[in-house]
Amino acid sequence: METKIYEPTSENIKKIAELIKNDELVAFPTETVYGLGANALSTKAVEKIFEVKNRPADNPLIVHVCSPLQIMRVAMEFPEKARLLADHFMPGPLTIVLEKKPILSDLVTGGLNTVGVRMPDHPVALEFINACNLPVCAPSANLSTRPSPTIARHVFDDMNGRIPAILDGGQCDFGIESTIVDVTGKVPVVLRKGAISIEELRAVVGEVKEATGEIHAPGNRYKHYAPKAEVLLSAYYDEMHVSICEKYDELVAACKKPVILCLNYRAEMYGDREIMEVGKDYAEYAHNLFAFLRYADERGYDTVIAEGVKNEGIGESLINRLIKSSGGQVI
Ligand code: TXA
Ligand code: MG
Repeated sequence: METKIYEPTSENIKKIAELIKNDELVAFPTETVYGLGANALSTKAVEKIFEVKNRPADNPLIVHVCSPLQIMRVAMEFPEKARLLADHFMPGPLTIVLEKKPILSDLVTGGLNTVGVRMPDHPVALEFINACNLPVCAPSANLSTRPSPTIARHVFDDMNGRIPAILDGGQCDFGIESTIVDVTGKVPVVLRKGAISIEELRAVVGEVKEATGEIHAPGNRYKHYAPKAEVLLSAYYDEMHVSICEKYDELVAACKKPVILCLNYRAEMYGDREIMEVGKDYAEYAHNLFAFLRYADERGYDTVIAEGVKNEGIGESLINRLIKSSGGQVI
C-alpha cells in the first residue's frame, strides 16, 4: 500500500474523511501528537488499528469528537465534574473517561465499560472529524513502543506502507499526549499525566486524585516511547551535570556513542561533549522530547542521557514520559 502525505486543504480533508467511512485508517494532526484514526463504530476498522500498530488488544482507544455534544453518542452520562472540565478544557489536551454506551464495541474500550473521549484543539483535526461525521477512535500514530509522532514525517517513518493517508498539520503544539481523567466516580482521578497539569485541573474542579497501584490507564503497563538508542534518565538535583558527565565519559571509554539531552541554558556545563538542546524550559522539553529521541536514532547515537526535571507542573508529565522511555533506568 502506498502511503501519501496530504496538505490539509478542505478538499483533501473531505477526500480523506471518505477513507474513514470506508473503514480505512488515516493519520491526522492534533495539538498533542499525531493520531491514527478509524471509524470508532466499525469493528473492521478498529481491528486494523491494533494490527497496524501491533497494539495489545486490552489497551483501549480514545474516541475523538468535534463537539462536546458528540460525546453523548458514545457515553451514557455526562456528570457535573465532567461538564466543568469540558467547559474549561474542550477543545484541548484532556481526555475524560466516562461510562460507555453499548454502541461502542469492546474492541475500542479494551473490554472496559468506560470510554475515553477527547475533543482536540486543532483546526485540521476538528475539520476532519466533522467531515467524517463519526466518532473517530485514535491512538498515537506510532508503532507500539516507539515515541509518539509530533510531525508528519515521524508518522511516515512508522506507518509507510501500512496506511493510505497522512494529513500533514505541521508540528504538534504540545508534543506530549493528553491528560486522562476518570470522572465516573465522586472525585476525578488522573489516569495518565499529560499536557494539562494536575494543578490546572484542581483549579477548575477542586479535589483531583492521582491514580495509584492498579488503577491506571491500561496503556501504562506497556513499554513506551522508546527509541532504538538506550535511554538513561538522570535523577534531578542541582549538581546532576556532574554525574551525567561521569556517565557520558564512562560510555565513551567503552566505545559507545552517547548524547546528552539538556535545557539550553545548561549546555555549557557539558563542555565539548555531544548534546542536544531540548528547549528553554520544561514545556519546551516536553514539546521536543519525542522528536529528539527519534532524531538521536537518525544521528546514530546509541545512548541518550536525559536530564531529570523537578516533579512539578508539566515536569510531572515529563518525568512520566522520561521514565517510560528509559524503561526505568535512572542514574
Ligand atoms: O493526546 C492523546 O491522547 C493522543 C492523541 C492522538 O489524541 N492519543 C493517545 O492515544 O495518546 P494512545 O492510544 O497512545 O494512548 C491512550 C491511552 C492508553 O494508555 C489507554 O490505555 C488509555 O489512554 N485509555 C483509553 N481509554 C481508556 C479508558 N476507558 N480507561 C482508561 N484508560 C483509557
Ligand atoms: Mg500512544
